[in-house]
Amino acid sequence: MIYLDNAATTFPKPQQVYDEVLECMRNYAANPGRSSHDMAIKAESKIMEARQEISTIFNIKNPLNIVFTSNATDGLNIGIKGILKAGDHVISTMIEHNSVLRPINSLNKKRTEVSLIGVNTRGYVNIEALKKEIKKNTKAIVINHASNVLGTIQNINEIGKIAKEKGIIFMVDASQSAGVVPIDVVKDNIDILAFPGHKGLFGPQGTGCIYINEKVNMYPYTEGGTGSQSNLMKQPKFLPDRFESGTRNTPGIAGLCEGVKFIKKVGIDKIRKHENMITKYLVQELSEISRIKIYGGSNYDNRAAVVSFNIDGIDSSEVGYLLNEEGVAVRTGYHCAPLIHGIIGTNYKGTVRISPGYFNTLKEIEKTIEIIKKISTK
Ligand code: ALA
Repeated sequence: MIYLDNAATTFPKPQQVYDEVLECMRNYAANPGRSSHDMAIKAESKIMEARQEISTIFNIKNPLNIVFTSNATDGLNIGIKGILKAGDHVISTMIEHNSVLRPINSLNKKRTEVSLIGVNTRGYVNIEALKKEIKKNTKAIVINHASNVLGTIQNINEIGKIAKEKGIIFMVDASQSAGVVPIDVVKDNIDILAFPGHKGLFGPQGTGCIYINEKVNMYPYTEGGTGSQSNLMKQPKFLPDRFESGTRNTPGIAGLCEGVKFIKKVGIDKIRKHENMITKYLVQELSEISRIKIYGGSNYDNRAAVVSFNIDGIDSSEVGYLLNEEGVAVRTGYHCAPLIHGIIGTNYKGTVRISPGYFNTLKEIEKTIEIIKKISTK
């Protein structure tokens, strides 16, 4: 199978990720942070190692400000529901994933005010329009860094500066960018960064993180055992325990730790360069095929490895089915980002999405293009 669905989850993972998950399961998958025996200590120290490795990628000064979650959606819910109350105002965008749109929509029903900024057909936010939405009660700006539909990379540095200037919490959904596009929580003024472990960071599914700046006062919607202050009925106030109740996914986090080490060894720049090269080639070749419409911008410095397209007259799901028959894995439909489709004119059909990753070769892309050419002449 030619796997081109890396925006959903990366596959394959580096060998050391598989090895460490198994090593943990076999030798040290005790409950981390609870007991004082050797296996539990080893489990906790692997989790700490993972926090440290992850923190260096994003320039997070204190690894304890990283909370492990089960995916990016979990992190985004922790952040959004932890900071916004009735009467607060939040600014977000029309290109968001449902992991942001659904929680803010449900808060909206409980009287949190919501402004969704439009984007252009290439998916970029108009920063002037965003500035105009800021009000006295604006508590947070929540922005998707790289779109899972168009690959659009937003200028989080500029938006972060505006948020800082106005004293607004800046929250970034790095689902498609963590591990692939450089992110610096200090330079980009990010207060909350939510990201999956199983995409660009090459960890197993069921892993994710949220970075929380300690200046942000957030309420935990999940409370329970943390292995700390266990004599009290009150949830600890300190990070990460405040948001990390219950037994953690130690084998997953151990694998994630190795995924991050792999990225650091290869270098994010090299990963990005490879994905960019493949994406550019794919877009150029696809645009030569008549009946194909490609969505998204052509500035590859501001575009992640996500290519959405349609073949005129063939439903996106049918194209996905035919590609699968030929051994190519892609995603089709709305990609859980409903509002962007009204902007790019795909409300009734969605798109076919090819999302290459670091392990894809140019040869695989060439083969995929040949198959798409064949499908488009049907
Ligand atoms: N959000 C993931 C995707 O875009 C699952 O496929």
